[in-house]
Amino acid sequence: MVEEPDTPAPHARSSARAPFAGPDAVTGPLALGDIAPEPRARLATDLPELDRVLGGGLVPGSAVLLGGEPGIGKSTLALQVAAATAERQPPPSASPRGSSPGKPSEPSGQVLYVSGEESPEQIRLRAGRLPVLPASLLVLAETRVEAIADAWRTHAPKLVLVDSIQTLQTERVESAAGSVAQVRESAADLIALAKSSGAVLILVGHVTKEGTLAGPRVLEHLVDVVLAFEGDRGQSFRVLRAAKNRFGSTLEVGVFSMGESGLAGVANPSELFLAERRGDAPGSCVVALLEGTRPLLLEVQALVAPAGYGTARRTAIGFDDGRLALLLAVLARRGGIDVLGMDVYLNVTGGMRIGEPAADLAVILALASSRLDVALPPDAIAVGEVGLGGEVRRVGRVEARVQEAMRLGFRRVLMPRGGHDKLRANGMELVPVEDVAEAVRWLRCAASAPGRDASPRHPVAPAESARRLPSNT
Ligand code: TYD
Ligand code: MG
Repeated sequence: MVEEPDTPAPHARSSARAPFAGPDAVTGPLALGDIAPEPRARLATDLPELDRVLGGGLVPGSAVLLGGEPGIGKSTLALQVAAATAERQPPPSASPRGSSPGKPSEPSGQVLYVSGEESPEQIRLRAGRLPVLPASLLVLAETRVEAIADAWRTHAPKLVLVDSIQTLQTERVESAAGSVAQVRESAADLIALAKSSGAVLILVGHVTKEGTLAGPRVLEHLVDVVLAFEGDRGQSFRVLRAAKNRFGSTLEVGVFSMGESGLAGVANPSELFLAERRGDAPGSCVVALLEGTRPLLLEVQALVAPAGYGTARRTAIGFDDGRLALLLAVLARRGGIDVLGMDVYLNVTGGMRIGEPAADLAVILALASSRLDVALPPDAIAVGEVGLGGEVRRVGRVEARVQEAMRLGFRRVLMPRGGHDKLRANGMELVPVEDVAEAVRWLRCAASAPGRDASPRHPVAPAESARRLPSNT
């Protein structure tokens, strides 16, 4: 139950909610062909991984919600965006532009960073860790929406960041900060300001693991872009996804690593995700996925152990539980591997989450490899979707996946039959598999192949491969 206070007439909002295009905007319908495609140039953030997810930069007049669990690095990312955008600007003049209150003027080049969680000194401390101090960045420690709106009108920034939406309070709503009504109304006011002024608004919002906490979820339909910052706090990798994007694809991901001086973009994530892989351990299989247009190699690890007592445990990290149950049933029934009474643990290394069915075959192989206690050849990867009949199905863009695997030193690909004549010339050994039973047979043969240990065709260590291969950083 959420309290909905009877608020007075929304006078503040009606004035703020003028159409984005300004006073010369035409009212009434327009022919689609008469509308210019994108009125203003996008604002590049200088963080290529973020720009990739946004679809080429921030769109003026838009609102972006950056959500994530506490401690994941939202404030750090927000400050880095602010810094990268503010850096190139001249320091703010002593006399702010005076404009009539209530009507924001055209955005200046400034960037306003509003924090309801940290004091200016704390923000200064955090900014001190960045490579370059954004001296011209305007910092405001404030939680009252009305005060933020005043500062916005006075300085007319091109970018406003608010950390976090849960700390804001508007006078129009009586309930406490962080309540659904407060979060929604405060955000609505600021979003209206962004639309009318043409500035970009970035709202930071905390989300719990379940994503249920009042806040980001109630805002998703209000904002133009919803970014989710994910990762394991114990690890340095962070993945940025677009859950919603009115100006681009939601398929692209950005990969960052959290270091001593903030977040750094990772241009070659596969190398990072495979860095600590032990190629000769049973229960491990590498898969080539596609994250947007970018192929990404990940390691799937499985541990199948006799169940202690009671029902068998099934735990999957980074993989869907239902899909794991399905693949276990297929492996037992079609692959003839007895896994159903066993405890099963599945892990995707690097804190990544797999959503693509193309990982099915790798999961099956990792499970079978652990159950049979035989390791896959260390230079092999697997790609393919698995159906309930045990058949291995085709997946999209096999070439891109195989090329990424080759780049990192892999030499064999288990994949669905058909449609891969072009790949053979590239020196990659292609192992077509019809169904799960054939994959299991291949695993047993590969394990017992003579001389397997004599020729360590282990893929090159990432550090070495980074040296040898032309880096695209
Ligand atoms: P933070 O951005 O405060 O997370 P959020 O706003 O999502 O709650 O930062 C999270 C963690 O990142 C924090 O525990 C400290 C760490 N960190 C670094 O490792 N390096 C850095 O340069 C910075 C600024 C933070
Ligand atoms: Mg924070």
